[in-house]
Amino acid sequence: MTVPHDAENHSRLMTQVESPSKPQTAAEPVVGKPIDRLDGRAKTSGQARFAAEHPYPDLAYAALVHATIARGRVTGFDVAGAAAVPGVLTVLTHENAPPMEPPPRPTLANMGMILTGAPVNYLHTDEVHWNGQPVAVVVAETLEAAREAAALVEVAYQESPATTDFAAQEEHAVLLKGNPFQPGTAKKGDAEAALKAAPVSVDLRFTTPPLNHNAIEPHATTAVWDGDRLTVHEATQGTTFLRTHLAARFSVPVESVRVIAPHVGGAFGGKGPVWAGTLLTVLAARATRRPVRMMLTREGVYRTVGGRSPSIQRIALGATADGEMTSLIHTGVTSIGRVGGLPEGVTAPSGHLYAAPNILLRHSQVELDWLPNTFMRAPGEAPGSFALEAAVDELAYELGMDPIALRMRNEPETNPIDGKAFSHRLLRETYAYGAQRFGWADRTPEPGSMRDGRWLVGMGVATAHHGTNRFTANVTVRLSADGSVLVRCALQEVGVGAATVQAQIAADALGVPLDAVRVEHGDSTLPAAPGAGASAQTVSVSASLLAACDKLKRKVRALGEGASYAEILQRAGRDHVEAAVGSETRLGALAGQAKFMARFLRDQRRWVKAASGAQFCEVRVDPDTGEIRVSRWLGVFDVGRVINAKTATSQLRGGIVMGIGMALSEETLVDPRTGRIMNPSLAEYHVPVHADIPPIDIHYLDEPDPTMPLGLLGLGEIGVTGTAAAIANAIYHATGKRVHDLPITLDKVL
Ligand code: MOS
Repeated sequence: MTVPHDAENHSRLMTQVESPSKPQTAAEPVVGKPIDRLDGRAKTSGQARFAAEHPYPDLAYAALVHATIARGRVTGFDVAGAAAVPGVLTVLTHENAPPMEPPPRPTLANMGMILTGAPVNYLHTDEVHWNGQPVAVVVAETLEAAREAAALVEVAYQESPATTDFAAQEEHAVLLKGNPFQPGTAKKGDAEAALKAAPVSVDLRFTTPPLNHNAIEPHATTAVWDGDRLTVHEATQGTTFLRTHLAARFSVPVESVRVIAPHVGGAFGGKGPVWAGTLLTVLAARATRRPVRMMLTREGVYRTVGGRSPSIQRIALGATADGEMTSLIHTGVTSIGRVGGLPEGVTAPSGHLYAAPNILLRHSQVELDWLPNTFMRAPGEAPGSFALEAAVDELAYELGMDPIALRMRNEPETNPIDGKAFSHRLLRETYAYGAQRFGWADRTPEPGSMRDGRWLVGMGVATAHHGTNRFTANVTVRLSADGSVLVRCALQEVGVGAATVQAQIAADALGVPLDAVRVEHGDSTLPAAPGAGASAQTVSVSASLLAACDKLKRKVRALGEGASYAEILQRAGRDHVEAAVGSETRLGALAGQAKFMARFLRDQRRWVKAASGAQFCEVRVDPDTGEIRVSRWLGVFDVGRVINAKTATSQLRGGIVMGIGMALSEETLVDPRTGRIMNPSLAEYHVPVHADIPPIDIHYLDEPDPTMPLGLLGLGEIGVTGTAAAIANAIYHATGKRVHDLPITLDKVL
């Protein structure tokens, strides 16, 4: 049995061990320790500059004009009022904008184009594809003038019939074929027949609303052209792909574009794709021959940056009287924009969690004239785990069984949907530790049976699950004779400590103190990297960094003897030695990608890799007002090895906070008649605030995965999964009321 790791007690730590004949590390190992973010001081003291904080002489400001119809054509503009605002430089529309190319289609050689947010060639078409699509850009000497003028642009439209009501489209949903990357539709046995035959069953319908991204830093761009050279300061999850994208859109060589983004104020998937604001700022800078800055308003984020698809889900579970699951059916309907978007794979967790002999997964999709949806922390698995894990709780009550016991009874030995081996699976251990630590045994199962004064108290659990991903990353590492180390990689720091953990890895690998390591990141001139996404950045970069460090150490050892690597350099009279992993040439990168894909696919045929965990929550519900307070939280996670106890804990905690918002308050309200988002502000779209969040106790097992570099399974997204279900289950326990439709607002529990 694994000994669970207490995040406040970080002693269990292993790093690479070298044989005694090799140069030894004088420095204390730092991998696994609760190291402060290296950029923490720069951020908290205001020294760190974000995308909209770069001063340029002659800087102009841009603001967007959004369409007010869901579908149709722009037939004309009246810009007289806007042009008359003092300080306005230009009003750009499809009638006068300089050239911009449509986005290239994604290919194996050009994978970055997957990150085209919407394949609309803004200001080069009179077509409108969603209510809120930018149709004009005002550039002015001041932000105030730009925004005032944007509000004065008059747009005339010819409307076309639009499909904007998600719920009404359910019956028109088209089934998606499963593929190895999106196995949302799959089957084993005959789940419908097994459901009918099951002595105990539940058959339930769940809905989740659309959700929007609300990073603390709204999307922002500062664009500067110097002839055909373009410099962009951007709030992005990856500078490498953005550089490639901008080069293609503005018809300049990739080498002429530089994207700089050392600090980004939250992203969650919303800053992965390339959206209108970025493109139109670059276009505005080209048109005006001025540096141009645009920071989206909060409303601008809602109208131009995709969010999470809504879903309608059915979960049907059948079991024997003693709780052996015989059937698991998970069908999901989600939406995608007519012009693009991402299939929100809600059925994903249901192929991995329960050892039912009969499983049916069906994912269907409707096309709407909405802004394309996109990645949002744990796409698919966040809303999918809500439905699945709430249904499992209902089955437990039908059976008269403890919900943890039901899960343990059906914990599979191999991946249920296809029988593949798990590379790693310690879900049982997370539950065992969590139950003991949370005091699950004190829970009386009868709904409404626990009280604290006037409050009804409920306790709920749910399983967290997130598939493991990995990409290629290029890294260079340089050791200087003074013992300093420079790691260079275009990895992206979106606020999570991504660069800090790489510094820790380099420090231990080369036997230097942490403060001797500097990591250069967030700049497209650095070695190419995948960016922050899919919970895969840290494992992708650290695999390459470790390989680069190994290469470097071999080079240094070839120079002679010494007590440390730095001493060998000194004795050999060398200033520094550098090693690189990954090719920066197009052909080299392609070859590297092909090799990586071959290995990835081979690996994927053998193993199913995922992080998992157990979410425990306690809620208090006021029986008269329906007020719901989350009063206690415990998450125990198996995320493989943990590099930094502090930043890892923070990530997991942040995911839970996001899940609490999803469970209780967040909902994008789209007018079904017009497709217009009705609550595009933090005043009306309710993210949790500090007062909504209880102490969140995080534990992890710190058990390396045997098949992943450094044993990492990824931990950026798993925290949000299972969270909403744990809350729904606790609310049932408190009140006896099952709510199947998120968010669980107080009117639904009364
Ligand atoms: Mo994340 S949703 O992969 O940025």
